[in-house]
Amino acid sequence: MQQTLFDFEQKTLDDVINPDTYKGIYSFHKYWGKKPLESINYFIQQYTTESDIIIDPFLGSGFIVHEGLRMNRRVIGIDLNPFSIEHTQFLLDLPSPKEYISAIKNIEASIKEKTYSSYMLENNTIASHYLWEGDSIKQIWSKQENKRTRIEIEPTDFDRNLFNSYRNYNVRNIRDAHFFTNSRINSYTTMTLSDIFTDRALRNIDLIIDEIKKYSGALQRALYLTLTSSSGQMSSMVFAITNRGKTQNKKSEKIEVGSWVIGFWRPELHFEINVWNCFESRAKKLYNALQNTSREKYKIHSNLSQLFHSTAGCYLANNNCLDELNTIPDNSIKLVCTDPPHSDRIPYLELSEIWNSILNKNVSFEKEIIVSNAKERNKKKDNYINDMEKFIGEVNRILKTDGIFLLYFNARDKESWKFMKIIEKASDLEFCGAFPLEYSATSVVQDNRKGGMKNDYILLMKHKKSKVLNESEFSFIPGWIEKLTEITL
Ligand SMILES: C[S@@+](CC[C@H](N)C(=O)[O-])C[C@H]1O[C@@H](n2cnc3c(N)ncnc32)[C@H](O)[C@@H]1O
Repeated sequence: MQQTLFDFEQKTLDDVINPDTYKGIYSFHKYWGKKPLESINYFIQQYTTESDIIIDPFLGSGFIVHEGLRMNRRVIGIDLNPFSIEHTQFLLDLPSPKEYISAIKNIEASIKEKTYSSYMLENNTIASHYLWEGDSIKQIWSKQENKRTRIEIEPTDFDRNLFNSYRNYNVRNIRDAHFFTNSRINSYTTMTLSDIFTDRALRNIDLIIDEIKKYSGALQRALYLTLTSSSGQMSSMVFAITNRGKTQNKKSEKIEVGSWVIGFWRPELHFEINVWNCFESRAKKLYNALQNTSREKYKIHSNLSQLFHSTAGCYLANNNCLDELNTIPDNSIKLVCTDPPHSDRIPYLELSEIWNSILNKNVSFEKEIIVSNAKERNKKKDNYINDMEKFIGEVNRILKTDGIFLLYFNARDKESWKFMKIIEKASDLEFCGAFPLEYSATSVVQDNRKGGMKNDYILLMKHKKSKVLNESEFSFIPGWIEKLTEITL
């Protein structure tokens, strides 16, 4: 069934409390920290009207901009991460399913065989998976034609020689990736793409990019994102899951394919998966999603002034939001709806580095507002609080007197919340209340460390003199709090 505009309108607070899982186009690409659409939708609908201006200065995957445009609001989206801007532009200008699948078929005709030749087995069948233990291939899987069951094969010298023939492959289409020493995500400065992908995988990714380059515009972007979204499964970071489903006394020998979750780990027992298969399976997912999504092309203005002089569309800036907010007029924004980095919970730019290197985009790591474990980055809590206070200062200035400021936030320690003090101390804003968000979305990866929090809060703020919010409307929500001190860490 086609999703229409109306599927996303008329959300109630009950929908906000019981959000749906991300599906289709919303779950196609991983980006960490996606927030439930119902809450975004509800506040846009209740507290803004057509052509009001909404801003999200920490855009991420771009769903806030997308929701705003679907409801005919004008929207400004800012993010430091070039990947975020690409993903948002993708959402706002989807290719037609027909042109997309035809491009995939053309790419298949040009390079599938060439890619498959790098996975050829001695018996002329094609490997789908190589199970590696450290630096040696332990087992190879291939599929029987038209059968679901896999054939498990012992590797021979033929397979090892084929693999070795791609050693020291020189990557042509992907820029060097830059990593920091960050034990939390297992990255280090001398790390290269070859620590994450086999040279055979890099050669095949290069072949795919050669083809993608033949397209342009929205179609090319969708093809690149198909590649970035399948790159995790193409890497050597895919876990082999052993012993799942074992009964109390019996050990299960069954091995399953896991997925890359967070970080740059190459587990001792890991998979190398056929790159073409990874790309094709992601392409099928996007094709299905495109078939089930109504397409609208939204106006993307090339500068802020154009947006202010029109009644529709959005402006997207790949910039440090503190610099960009500075250019926005006082008292001009009806809704600030945003989800900034939550202190040290997710290293956004560092984790996106592979996607950005595939997209050939450069990243200003030094401007990221984050607390990072990476030694070389010098991103400490004090700088974070300082930058977040500057951000609140800008919101105070640009928010209309009857505007609303919604902040999605949570942090594991009290110190990371300190910037909120500036609201009461040095702004015209006031905190009205907050409630914890329920997630049903499996795509929401927040923090998998011990003590990591499952929920985020949605904090509601407005100008002190404004009566725009009726707090009692929210008081029935489980976990509703009226004072920040009531938030439990
Ligand atoms: C929590 S994520 C937003 C996720 C978003 N809610 C979504 O649906 O995907 C925070 C974002 O802030 C961005 N960011 C970090 N520092 C920034 C800065 N100085 N200016 C603009 N964006 C920044 C990160 O790149 C990241 O995309």
